[in-house]
Amino acid sequence: MKVLVATEKPFARVAVDGIREVVEQAGYELALLEKYSSKGHLLEAVADVDALIIRSDNVDAEVLAAAKNLKIVVRAGAGYDNIDLASATAHNVVAMNTPGQNSNAVAELALGLMVMAVRNMYNGTSGTELKGKKLGIHAYGNVGRNVARIAKGFGMEIYAYDAYCPDEAMLNDGVTPLHSAEDLYATCDVISLHIPATAETKGSINYALLSKMPKGGLLVNTARKEVINEAELIQFMQERHDFRYVTDIMPAADQKMTELFESRYFATPKKMGAQTAEANINAGIAAAKQIVDFFQNGNTRFQVN
Ligand code: 3PG
Repeated sequence: MKVLVATEKPFARVAVDGIREVVEQAGYELALLEKYSSKGHLLEAVADVDALIIRSDNVDAEVLAAAKNLKIVVRAGAGYDNIDLASATAHNVVAMNTPGQNSNAVAELALGLMVMAVRNMYNGTSGTELKGKKLGIHAYGNVGRNVARIAKGFGMEIYAYDAYCPDEAMLNDGVTPLHSAEDLYATCDVISLHIPATAETKGSINYALLSKMPKGGLLVNTARKEVINEAELIQFMQERHDFRYVTDIMPAADQKMTELFESRYFATPKKMGAQTAEANINAGIAAAKQIVDFFQNGNTRFQVN
Protein backbone atom coordinates (compact mmCIF):
# COMPACT_ATOMS: atom_id res chain seq x y z
CA MET A 1 0.00 0.00 0.00
CA LYS A 2 1.48 3.37 -0.99
CA VAL A 3 0.45 6.66 0.64
CA LEU A 4 1.42 9.94 -1.00
CA VAL A 5 1.57 13.25 0.85
CA ALA A 6 1.17 15.86 -1.90
CA THR A 7 1.48 19.33 -0.41
CA GLU A 8 2.34 22.36 -2.49
CA LYS A 9 2.50 24.16 0.87
CA PRO A 10 4.42 21.63 3.00
CA PHE A 11 3.63 20.52 6.53
CA ALA A 12 6.13 21.23 9.30
CA ARG A 13 8.85 18.52 9.30
CA VAL A 14 7.71 17.22 12.68
CA ALA A 15 4.23 16.57 11.21
CA VAL A 16 5.69 14.65 8.25
CA ASP A 17 7.70 12.54 10.73
CA GLY A 18 4.46 11.77 12.58
CA ILE A 19 2.65 10.84 9.37
CA ARG A 20 5.55 8.59 8.37
CA GLU A 21 5.42 6.80 11.70
CA VAL A 22 1.67 6.07 11.39
CA VAL A 23 1.97 4.94 7.76
CA GLU A 24 5.06 2.75 8.29
CA GLN A 25 3.71 1.19 11.48
CA ALA A 26 0.78 -0.02 9.40
CA GLY A 27 3.28 -1.60 6.99
CA TYR A 28 2.61 0.90 4.20
CA GLU A 29 5.04 2.96 2.16
CA LEU A 30 5.15 6.77 2.36
CA ALA A 31 5.95 9.01 -0.62
CA LEU A 32 6.35 12.78 -0.48
CA LEU A 33 5.69 15.45 -3.09
CA GLU A 34 6.23 18.87 -1.56
CA LYS A 35 6.42 22.38 -3.04
CA TYR A 36 5.71 21.05 -6.53
CA SER A 37 5.63 23.69 -9.19
CA SER A 38 3.36 22.15 -11.81
CA LYS A 39 0.31 19.95 -12.05
CA GLY A 40 2.38 17.56 -14.18
CA HIS A 41 4.43 16.62 -11.11
CA LEU A 42 1.27 15.79 -9.21
CA LEU A 43 -0.15 13.74 -12.11
CA GLU A 44 3.09 11.75 -12.23
CA ALA A 45 3.30 11.24 -8.47
CA VAL A 46 -0.28 9.93 -8.06
CA ALA A 47 0.05 7.29 -10.80
CA ASP A 48 0.73 4.35 -8.47
CA VAL A 49 -0.56 5.44 -5.06
CA ASP A 50 -3.40 3.87 -3.08
CA ALA A 51 -4.00 6.81 -0.77
CA LEU A 52 -3.40 10.52 -0.94
CA ILE A 53 -3.02 13.19 1.75
CA ILE A 54 -3.43 16.77 0.54
CA ARG A 55 -4.01 20.29 1.84
CA SER A 56 -5.39 22.96 -0.53
CA ASP A 57 -3.96 20.97 -3.45
CA ASN A 58 -6.38 20.55 -6.33
CA VAL A 59 -7.65 17.05 -6.86
CA ASP A 60 -9.71 17.42 -10.00
CA ALA A 61 -11.00 14.94 -12.60
CA GLU A 62 -7.61 14.84 -14.35
CA VAL A 63 -5.74 13.99 -11.14
CA LEU A 64 -8.32 11.34 -10.25
CA ALA A 65 -8.08 9.80 -13.72
CA ALA A 66 -4.28 9.69 -13.43
CA ALA A 67 -4.45 8.02 -10.01
CA LYS A 68 -5.35 4.56 -11.26
CA ASN A 69 -4.91 2.77 -7.89
CA LEU A 70 -6.32 5.49 -5.66
CA LYS A 71 -8.93 4.41 -3.11
CA ILE A 72 -8.91 7.31 -0.67
CA VAL A 73 -7.96 10.98 -0.61
CA VAL A 74 -7.85 12.82 2.71
CA ARG A 75 -7.81 16.59 2.84
CA ALA A 76 -5.74 17.32 5.97
CA GLY A 77 -7.92 20.24 6.99
CA ALA A 78 -11.48 21.43 6.94
CA GLY A 79 -12.49 22.77 3.51
CA TYR A 80 -12.71 20.25 0.68
CA ASP A 81 -13.74 22.61 -2.12
CA ASN A 82 -10.43 21.65 -3.79
CA ILE A 83 -11.58 18.07 -4.40
CA ASP A 84 -13.89 17.22 -7.29
CA LEU A 85 -16.24 15.09 -5.20
CA ALA A 86 -18.41 13.89 -8.09
CA SER A 87 -15.34 12.72 -9.97
CA ALA A 88 -13.95 11.04 -6.84
CA THR A 89 -17.22 9.15 -6.47
CA ALA A 90 -17.17 8.21 -10.16
CA HIS A 91 -13.66 6.79 -9.68
CA ASN A 92 -14.73 4.91 -6.51
CA VAL A 93 -12.44 7.08 -4.42
CA VAL A 94 -13.45 7.92 -0.86
CA ALA A 95 -12.85 11.58 0.00
CA MET A 96 -12.46 12.68 3.62
CA ASN A 97 -11.47 15.76 5.60
CA THR A 98 -10.13 16.07 9.16
CA PRO A 99 -12.61 18.45 10.77
CA GLY A 100 -11.50 20.47 13.78
CA GLN A 101 -7.84 19.51 13.61
CA ASN A 102 -6.50 22.88 12.45
CA SER A 103 -9.28 25.17 13.70
CA ASN A 104 -7.48 26.72 16.65
CA ALA A 105 -4.62 27.83 14.39
CA VAL A 106 -7.03 29.53 11.98
CA ALA A 107 -8.94 31.14 14.84
CA GLU A 108 -5.76 32.52 16.40
CA LEU A 109 -4.83 34.08 13.06
CA ALA A 110 -8.30 35.62 12.72
CA LEU A 111 -7.82 37.39 16.06
CA GLY A 112 -4.27 38.34 15.07
CA LEU A 113 -5.55 39.95 11.87
CA MET A 114 -8.24 41.77 13.88
CA VAL A 115 -5.69 43.29 16.23
CA MET A 116 -3.50 44.26 13.29
CA ALA A 117 -6.41 46.01 11.54
CA VAL A 118 -7.66 47.98 14.54
CA ARG A 119 -4.07 49.11 15.20
CA ASN A 120 -3.91 50.49 11.64
CA MET A 121 -1.63 47.71 10.35
CA TYR A 122 0.93 48.63 13.03
CA ASN A 123 1.76 51.90 11.28
CA GLY A 124 2.30 53.76 14.54
CA THR A 125 -0.88 55.84 14.47
CA SER A 126 -3.55 55.74 17.17
CA GLY A 127 -5.97 52.84 16.68
CA THR A 128 -8.81 51.27 18.64
CA GLU A 129 -9.31 48.26 20.91
CA LEU A 130 -11.32 45.09 20.46
CA LYS A 131 -12.64 45.17 24.03
CA GLY A 132 -16.32 46.07 24.11
CA LYS A 133 -16.69 45.80 20.30
CA LYS A 134 -19.31 43.61 18.72
CA LEU A 135 -17.91 40.59 16.91
CA GLY A 136 -20.05 38.74 14.36
CA ILE A 137 -19.00 35.19 13.61
CA HIS A 138 -20.32 34.21 10.19
CA ALA A 139 -20.74 30.42 10.44
CA TYR A 140 -20.37 28.76 13.80
CA GLY A 141 -18.35 25.64 13.02
CA ASN A 142 -15.06 24.50 14.52
CA VAL A 143 -13.18 27.69 13.63
CA GLY A 144 -16.08 29.96 14.61
CA ARG A 145 -16.26 28.33 18.04
CA ASN A 146 -12.56 28.83 18.63
CA VAL A 147 -12.83 32.46 17.52
CA ALA A 148 -15.63 32.94 20.07
CA ARG A 149 -13.53 31.37 22.85
CA ILE A 150 -10.52 33.59 22.15
CA ALA A 151 -12.55 36.76 21.49
CA LYS A 152 -14.18 36.35 24.90
CA GLY A 153 -10.75 36.84 26.41
CA PHE A 154 -10.50 40.14 24.53
CA GLY A 155 -13.78 41.25 26.13
CA MET A 156 -15.72 41.37 22.87
CA GLU A 157 -19.51 41.03 22.68
CA ILE A 158 -20.06 37.99 20.50
CA TYR A 159 -22.80 37.26 17.97
CA ALA A 160 -23.05 34.52 15.38
CA TYR A 161 -25.12 33.51 12.40
CA ASP A 162 -25.15 29.96 11.10
CA ALA A 163 -28.17 28.57 9.26
CA TYR A 164 -27.13 25.02 10.18
CA CYS A 165 -26.22 25.46 13.85
CA PRO A 166 -28.84 25.36 16.62
CA ASP A 167 -29.15 28.45 18.84
CA GLU A 168 -28.43 26.35 21.95
CA ALA A 169 -24.88 25.59 20.79
CA MET A 170 -24.17 29.33 20.58
CA LEU A 171 -26.02 30.19 23.78
CA ASN A 172 -24.04 27.53 25.67
CA ASP A 173 -20.86 29.34 24.60
CA GLY A 174 -22.17 32.75 25.68
CA VAL A 175 -22.70 33.77 22.06
CA THR A 176 -25.85 35.57 20.92
CA PRO A 177 -27.45 33.84 17.93
CA LEU A 178 -28.77 36.00 15.10
CA HIS A 179 -30.95 34.61 12.36
CA SER A 180 -29.75 36.19 9.15
CA ALA A 181 -26.47 37.34 7.66
CA GLU A 182 -28.04 40.80 7.18
CA ASP A 183 -28.78 41.01 10.90
CA LEU A 184 -25.24 39.94 11.80
CA TYR A 185 -23.61 42.51 9.51
CA ALA A 186 -25.94 45.28 10.70
CA THR A 187 -25.23 44.49 14.35
CA CYS A 188 -21.47 43.96 14.45
CA ASP A 189 -18.36 46.16 14.27
CA VAL A 190 -16.20 43.24 13.21
CA ILE A 191 -17.22 40.27 11.06
CA SER A 192 -15.10 37.12 11.01
CA LEU A 193 -15.88 34.86 8.05
CA HIS A 194 -15.94 31.09 8.52
CA ILE A 195 -18.23 29.93 5.73
CA PRO A 196 -17.11 27.23 3.30
CA ALA A 197 -16.92 27.92 -0.44
CA THR A 198 -20.01 26.29 -1.91
CA ALA A 199 -22.29 27.05 -4.86
CA GLU A 200 -24.51 28.85 -2.36
CA THR A 201 -21.84 30.97 -0.66
CA LYS A 202 -19.58 31.92 -3.59
CA GLY A 203 -19.75 35.67 -4.16
CA SER A 204 -22.28 36.00 -1.31
CA ILE A 205 -20.28 38.62 0.61
CA ASN A 206 -21.37 41.46 -1.63
CA TYR A 207 -22.08 45.19 -1.69
CA ALA A 208 -25.61 44.83 -0.29
CA LEU A 209 -24.43 42.81 2.72
CA LEU A 210 -21.36 44.94 3.45
CA SER A 211 -23.52 48.09 3.28
CA LYS A 212 -25.27 46.93 6.44
CA MET A 213 -22.09 47.27 8.51
CA PRO A 214 -21.79 50.22 10.89
CA LYS A 215 -19.19 52.96 10.53
CA GLY A 216 -15.66 51.73 11.13
CA GLY A 217 -16.63 48.19 10.10
CA LEU A 218 -13.98 45.51 9.72
CA LEU A 219 -14.22 42.30 7.71
CA VAL A 220 -11.78 39.50 8.51
CA ASN A 221 -11.53 36.65 6.03
CA THR A 222 -9.71 33.48 7.02
CA ALA A 223 -12.17 31.33 5.06
CA ARG A 224 -12.05 31.38 1.24
CA LYS A 225 -11.54 34.13 -1.33
CA GLU A 226 -14.36 32.77 -3.53
CA VAL A 227 -17.02 33.80 -1.00
CA ILE A 228 -16.19 37.46 -1.60
CA ASN A 229 -17.63 39.39 -4.52
CA GLU A 230 -14.33 41.15 -5.12
CA ALA A 231 -15.55 43.81 -7.55
CA GLU A 232 -18.32 44.81 -5.15
CA LEU A 233 -15.96 44.80 -2.16
CA ILE A 234 -13.65 47.20 -4.01
CA GLN A 235 -16.57 49.42 -5.00
CA PHE A 236 -17.78 49.42 -1.39
CA MET A 237 -14.34 50.28 0.01
CA GLN A 238 -13.99 53.12 -2.49
CA GLU A 239 -17.24 54.59 -1.20
CA ARG A 240 -16.82 53.75 2.47
CA HIS A 241 -13.48 55.19 3.59
CA ASP A 242 -14.03 53.92 7.13
CA PHE A 243 -14.25 50.25 6.12
CA ARG A 244 -11.34 47.80 6.45
CA TYR A 245 -10.67 44.37 4.99
CA VAL A 246 -8.02 41.94 6.19
CA THR A 247 -7.64 38.51 4.68
CA ASP A 248 -5.59 35.34 4.79
CA ILE A 249 -6.51 34.58 1.19
CA MET A 250 -5.01 37.03 -1.26
CA PRO A 251 -7.62 38.51 -3.63
CA ALA A 252 -7.00 38.50 -7.38
CA ALA A 253 -6.95 42.30 -7.18
CA ASP A 254 -4.37 42.41 -4.36
CA GLN A 255 -2.09 44.92 -6.07
CA LYS A 256 -4.93 47.28 -6.91
CA MET A 257 -6.36 47.01 -3.39
CA THR A 258 -2.96 47.63 -1.80
CA GLU A 259 -2.60 50.80 -3.89
CA LEU A 260 -6.15 51.99 -3.31
CA PHE A 261 -6.66 51.21 0.35
CA GLU A 262 -3.24 51.46 2.04
CA SER A 263 -3.75 50.97 5.78
CA ARG A 264 -7.35 49.75 5.35
CA TYR A 265 -6.38 46.53 3.56
CA PHE A 266 -4.02 43.65 4.23
CA ALA A 267 -3.57 40.18 2.73
CA THR A 268 -1.10 37.53 3.84
CA PRO A 269 1.28 36.55 1.01
CA LYS A 270 0.22 32.91 1.30
CA LYS A 271 -2.71 31.37 3.20
CA MET A 272 -1.21 30.68 6.60
CA GLY A 273 -4.13 30.22 9.00
CA ALA A 274 -3.44 26.51 9.39
CA GLN A 275 0.30 26.90 8.98
CA THR A 276 1.45 26.01 12.49
CA ALA A 277 3.38 22.98 13.71
CA GLU A 278 0.47 22.05 15.96
CA ALA A 279 -2.17 22.24 13.22
CA ASN A 280 0.09 20.35 10.79
CA ILE A 281 0.68 17.62 13.36
CA ASN A 282 -3.01 17.37 14.28
CA ALA A 283 -4.41 17.41 10.75
CA GLY A 284 -1.57 15.44 9.10
CA ILE A 285 -1.53 12.63 11.63
CA ALA A 286 -5.34 12.48 11.74
CA ALA A 287 -5.31 12.09 7.94
CA ALA A 288 -2.76 9.26 8.14
CA LYS A 289 -4.73 7.50 10.89
CA GLN A 290 -7.97 7.85 8.93
CA ILE A 291 -6.30 6.19 5.94
CA VAL A 292 -5.03 3.27 8.03
CA ASP A 293 -8.42 2.91 9.72
CA PHE A 294 -10.12 2.94 6.32
CA PHE A 295 -7.91 0.19 4.89
CA GLN A 296 -7.84 -1.92 8.07
CA ASN A 297 -11.40 -1.50 9.34
CA GLY A 298 -13.39 0.09 6.53
CA ASN A 299 -14.00 3.17 8.70
CA THR A 300 -15.53 5.96 6.58
CA ARG A 301 -16.60 8.26 9.42
CA PHE A 302 -15.19 11.44 7.88
CA GLN A 303 -16.21 10.69 4.30
CA VAL A 304 -17.55 13.76 2.47
CA ASN A 305 -18.56 12.26 -0.90
C1 3PG B 1 -8.71 24.39 5.74
O1 3PG B 1 -9.68 24.35 4.99
O2 3PG B 1 -8.43 23.44 6.51
C2 3PG B 1 -7.88 25.64 5.83
O3 3PG B 1 -8.27 26.57 4.90
C3 3PG B 1 -6.38 25.37 5.75
O4 3PG B 1 -5.90 25.13 4.46
P1 3PG B 1 -4.37 24.73 4.18
O5 3PG B 1 -4.18 23.32 4.61
O6 3PG B 1 -4.17 24.92 2.71
O7 3PG B 1 -3.49 25.65 4.97
